[in-house]
Amino acid sequence: MKINGKVYRTIWYESGVVRIIDQTKLPHKFIIKDLKSVKDAINAIKIMEVRGAPLIGGTAAYGLVLAVQENNNPKFIKKSAEELIQSRPTAINLKWAVDRMIKKLSDINKDKTLDVALTEAKEICDEDEKFCENIGINGLKIIEEIYNKKKETINILTHCNAGWLATINWGTATSPIYHAHKKGIPVHVWVDETRPRNQGANLTSYELNEEGINNTIIADNAGGILMQRGDVDMCIVGTDRTLSNGDVCNKIGTYLKALAAHDNNVPFYVALPSSTIDWEIKRGKDIPIEERNSEELSHVEGIDKNNEIKKVLIYPKKSKAMNLAFDVTPAKYVTGLITEKGICEASTEGLKKLFK
Ligand code: MRU
Repeated sequence: MKINGKVYRTIWYESGVVRIIDQTKLPHKFIIKDLKSVKDAINAIKIMEVRGAPLIGGTAAYGLVLAVQENNNPKFIKKSAEELIQSRPTAINLKWAVDRMIKKLSDINKDKTLDVALTEAKEICDEDEKFCENIGINGLKIIEEIYNKKKETINILTHCNAGWLATINWGTATSPIYHAHKKGIPVHVWVDETRPRNQGANLTSYELNEEGINNTIIADNAGGILMQRGDVDMCIVGTDRTLSNGDVCNKIGTYLKALAAHDNNVPFYVALPSSTIDWEIKRGKDIPIEERNSEELSHVEGIDKNNEIKKVLIYPKKSKAMNLAFDVTPAKYVTGLITEKGICEASTEGLKKLFK
């Protein structure tokens, strides 16, 4: 998608390094950063220079390319794979991508390892782009259906950033929106600010602006009243891990949005590529929920009048804070799952019809 009119993907390999858009600096500064070692890749995931489940997976895949480049020794590659998997616990795409890379790299002639790693990492990213495009084509049908009845601008609420910046391209939740916009359907997006890191305000609103899509940032707690007023036609969110029973783990606050949508008969859709499905864990409470540094809550970053990024403390110095990064929305509150293979019920039967 576009930034300043130029088309980008979120990650690519060029001249022996992996290039990413540093998302910790957006929306104020657009900086392309080079990752030169697997440690750089691990750090980029940990400090969220890259984030969003599919992009974390893509970065882990390219992280292993960097590991092979550094030291083509099976022990080093295995250790790097383990460290990559541990860098963020909730998004399943991370382990999925690392396992896929390691499988591909096993029993390969040493002088072929780098070529094989590069081809597989690119394949993982190309596949994600294609899957997200298909999510858009499938999700567009839902937006069209609502538009054919309403004949007016469709108001869509989204939480966090499940946009193209969270994937390789297109995004998951935003892909149907981009497809609707390209087709000429008038859409307006309610963007949840998404405290504490503000991925909605900093990333979703930013990328929608760059694509010319009408959007309004709202405080995280405003969705409820907007739904009560009839100002939300549908919700679409992403997911970091979807269980085979249709339970959905996503950015903290998603569950409360789903409850409000349920109470107000607003359709609540979750968009995901199949790489986000966890076929092993059976209960939502068994999903590892990342608890991040409380400084993300107590400090806020912004730009000052000299165009410099500054961080300030907004809490009482003596106060404690707790920062859970994800929650689980039970399948019963999910109207449907929008996947690359089609739309299905959020249930074991629904997912089985499309996959496996
Ligand atoms: O903590 P983040 O920014 O990595 O969380 C991202 C989200 O919760 C996204 O909504 C999710 O990964 C879906 S991405 C297409």
